[in-house]
Amino acid sequence: MRVLVTGGAGYIGTHTLIELIAAGHEPYVVDNFDNAVPEALNRVSELVQRPIPFTDCDVRDRKALTEVCETFRPEAVIHFAGLKAVGESEERPRDYYDVNVAGTLTLLAAMEAVGCRRIVFSSSATVYGVPEYLPYDEAHPTVPLSVYAKTKHMAEGILTDWQRANPEGAVMLLRYFNPVGAHVSSRIGEDPQGIPNNLMPFISQVAVGRRDKLMVFGDDYDTADGTGVRDYIHVTDLARAHVKAIEFAEHTAGAEVFNIGTGQGYSVLDMIRAFEKAADRPIPYEVTDRRPGDVAAMEADASRAAKHLGWRAELGLDAMCESVWGWQSANPQGYEEGR
Ligand code: NAD
Ligand code: WQD
Repeated sequence: MRVLVTGGAGYIGTHTLIELIAAGHEPYVVDNFDNAVPEALNRVSELVQRPIPFTDCDVRDRKALTEVCETFRPEAVIHFAGLKAVGESEERPRDYYDVNVAGTLTLLAAMEAVGCRRIVFSSSATVYGVPEYLPYDEAHPTVPLSVYAKTKHMAEGILTDWQRANPEGAVMLLRYFNPVGAHVSSRIGEDPQGIPNNLMPFISQVAVGRRDKLMVFGDDYDTADGTGVRDYIHVTDLARAHVKAIEFAEHTAGAEVFNIGTGQGYSVLDMIRAFEKAADRPIPYEVTDRRPGDVAAMEADASRAAKHLGWRAELGLDAMCESVWGWQSANPQGYEEGR
């Protein structure tokens, strides 16, 4: 299928391009490089040994997006483009609603202009809010707490209503848990700008010597070792879930929600130990206060994706840590060297 990939130069987008091409699909990227660099697409191109066509374009630019759609004629869209930092979303709510919500509406208008009715959307497990029970299944109540989570929840609602008004259309809402890992080649991976917000890139920057130590946000949670538990999912498994979702959308109509996780939770201390093993070096850390807004534990019931998409996670914690270390040690400054 011809697949328009918004935000395709980003962390999850680049990994998905590789899996899309491996499965015989034809991607076209739009990205405004707000949180990515063209070098990431050069590296994908090198890995798949073909050019990756792209347009430097904002998803809020309806005219430019429509022109891309009119030229490329996508049969499906994967919509990654968005802002994703929970803390920043509280400081810049207008930007988050604008890009994540208004950007999604603009994209739908551009799709309608060319009769494209299939979309896979990057949602997040944060839409659930505080767990009433674990693991979360897709029927768990959604009570989004942060501005970021609210933008994802609103976009889910917009897409669901849009599908109801376009009954031949297919909307796949993928609720990712905690994506980590890098491509097995070590050529692409997560490259956060500034101080990483998330655990895995922080640990890997400590391991490579860019930061002195990790701050562990609380060890008094009601979990086995007191530190926060999350369902980490390898980005390559996540990328494959997108391929399964567009292929499912090709033959189905409807709006569907899928949790994308492994079902296995790990604590912060588990992650430190696994990374120490993969990198064969100690990760200095210090326990500090809880981070506001964090929950004790999150785990996915991903059985719905297994049943309907035929997808399940295959890569475990060691593969996640080894691939991150491969990427970080080969690219200590991320894509910087190649820019
Ligand atoms: P990322 O920041 O690496 O990728 C997002 C891409 O979108 C970047 O390449 C960025 O330049 C682009 N972009 C941002 N604003 C844009 C705009 N206005 N117009 C065009 N392009 C724009 O993030 P990621 O980790 O690859 O996440 C991809 C998607 O998945 C996001 O929507 C994110 O909210 C969602 N998500 C991510 C995680 C995670 O932990 N990484 C978890 C759940 C959901
Ligand atoms: C994981 C665990 C922290 C950093 C967020 C978003 C979610 C999704 C993924 C976008 C927690 C602890 C972390 C550190 C630490 N993103 N931690 N020291 O908060 O589960 O999820 O990113 O959609 O929506 O909410 O991920 O990696 O930040 O934290 O101790 O320096 O690591 O307290 O227990 P989180 P995370």
